[in-house]
Amino acid sequence: MQRMTTAPAPIELSAEDRARVDAFEARVADDQFIEPKDWMPDAYRKTLVRQISQHAHSEYVGMLPEGNWITRAPTLRRKDILLAKVQDEAGHALYLYCAAETLGTSRDQMTEALLSGKAKYSTIFNYPTLTWADIGTIGWLVDGAAIMNQVPLQRASFGPYARAMVRVCKEESFHQRQGYESIMALAQGTAEQKAMAQDALDRWWWPVLMMFGPPDDKSPNSEQSMRWRIKRESNDTLRQKFVDATIPQAEAIGLHVPDPALRWNEAKNGYDFGTPDWEEFYAVVRGEGPTATERISERRAAWEDGAWVRDAAMAHAEKHAALTNTASTAKVA
Ligand SMILES: [Fe+2]
Ligand SMILES: [Fe+2]
Repeated sequence: MQRMTTAPAPIELSAEDRARVDAFEARVADDQFIEPKDWMPDAYRKTLVRQISQHAHSEYVGMLPEGNWITRAPTLRRKDILLAKVQDEAGHALYLYCAAETLGTSRDQMTEALLSGKAKYSTIFNYPTLTWADIGTIGWLVDGAAIMNQVPLQRASFGPYARAMVRVCKEESFHQRQGYESIMALAQGTAEQKAMAQDALDRWWWPVLMMFGPPDDKSPNSEQSMRWRIKRESNDTLRQKFVDATIPQAEAIGLHVPDPALRWNEAKNGYDFGTPDWEEFYAVVRGEGPTATERISERRAAWEDGAWVRDAAMAHAEKHAALTNTASTAKVA
């Protein structure tokens, strides 16, 4: 079983460093934001870089399964919505890459880590989008799960991350609603359309539940991240909340989640539900997902094909800076 992260080794601290760590932890416990120029423990910085860049990569790679349906959207209205959604995801990646850059890691380093397979992204994007119903299902469930994960992160202790989440969450709400509305149209359509919606739900349900990460007792770094307030609720708590919110939505449009163990539990005021196939999850984390190779090679091709744009932007910036310098020298003279 692969652990997704490694816990930082305990280090002996000098009295001065101990005082800095104590002051830092007190600020976090008091729900104050930590800003890029503030002192922070190395392990906090490293954990944040990993978490934020992984999040950014997920937003970016997340455009690929949906992007390949833009030309096949069934109506102009759906195409318009899908284009806007995919564009939003590019924006989310940008806010997050910028937030990670404030921690001293460059965009190029993060891209290199993604393309070399060192950095991870959400396992959900390694599943294929086989029919149009998959696109609505992604909005409804994948963006719905992302909202569950991200709403608490608006109160994350690192200021730039928390602030990026505020805007991201607003846009994710629209993504979830357009997805549900699209699936609702299929569920209320012809028998074939309803069957297509049900088939998509059957394929996506378990991978979506895996998006919340391994069960709490198999998530070794969660405790530290909760203490640092860069994770505010546990994987199992978020998964439960998601199931409780989603089942009534499925029922309202006559679809059924593929889980024979699902039943309402009055005592806990929530649903009991089955266990995802965690072996499948770890295999996808290891890069064995159905479309893992395709996603990274598409991402690499986009990076390589875009080299001329980056070069042109740099050349323009240098030319502009040279002109501004000449103008200001002339003024001084
Ligand atoms: Fe997003
Ligand atoms: Fe989204």
